[in-house]
Amino acid sequence: MDNVRKIPQHVAIIMDGNGRWAKKRGLPRTMGHAQGARVVEQILEDADHMGIRYLTVYAFSTENWTRPDSEVKALMNLLRTYMKTSLAKCAKNNVRIRVIGDKSRLDEDLQASIAHLEHETRTNTGISFQIAINYGSRDEMVRGIRKIAAKAAAGQISPEQIDEEMFSDSLDTAGLPDPDLLIRTCGEERISNFLMWQIAYSELYFTPVAWPDFNKAELEKAVDAYNSRERRFGGLVN
Ligand code: IPE
Ligand code: IPE
Ligand code: MG
Repeated sequence: MDNVRKIPQHVAIIMDGNGRWAKKRGLPRTMGHAQGARVVEQILEDADHMGIRYLTVYAFSTENWTRPDSEVKALMNLLRTYMKTSLAKCAKNNVRIRVIGDKSRLDEDLQASIAHLEHETRTNTGISFQIAINYGSRDEMVRGIRKIAAKAAAGQISPEQIDEEMFSDSLDTAGLPDPDLLIRTCGEERISNFLMWQIAYSELYFTPVAWPDFNKAELEKAVDAYNSRERRFGGLVN
């Protein structure tokens, strides 16, 4: 390996451990989420400075609705605040925002501020920041298949024309490169329904550090680990 650090083009993060972080400090779980939200903003800047071009974070899963109402509400309020307050910063840092997941189940005011932020940042050419909200990979794939099936039923395409590219284009992540590196914090080593199609060949990195304690040094460690891997895509080693 040469001395130049390869920077992954697209990094995806399962931000886990907010609740445990808070519990350890005798704080309510929602305080962990509030700290976690501050960390995301910092990591977005750090990722940008490191030269990462796409950052995708898992903020709320399709399964997270089963949490207590008060916690769901607190999480939605953090997202609400983010959508309402981050435009100036995105403009300054040239960040493009996209929300992936089924937005139709979110409150209308939240949907409206997401649409506004996506629209206002759509021509920004800096880092592309995807936030997964009410996101589940299975749900995303089913929604994609429905779109394709509707076209087939309308006679616009034939089943034989359906290929990997068409399927990828039917997903919320259409147009984005697949993640090179997937990070999950706080010790769990599972995917929890995140980007299952897109991470087919991503390198996986797990760290015991809880999300509210994650920082630039930890991100650099993950990128170093990525650099120590020999990436393969099923072919011969060259
Ligand atoms: C991650 O932290 C944030 C969300 C899933 C919304 P958790 O809330 O899952 O924290 P733990 O895993 O319970 O510690
Ligand atoms: C995954 O974390 C979802 C997000 C980070 C938003 P969870 O904490 O919800 O996942 P499980 O329940 O540990 O698999
Ligand atoms: Mg968790």
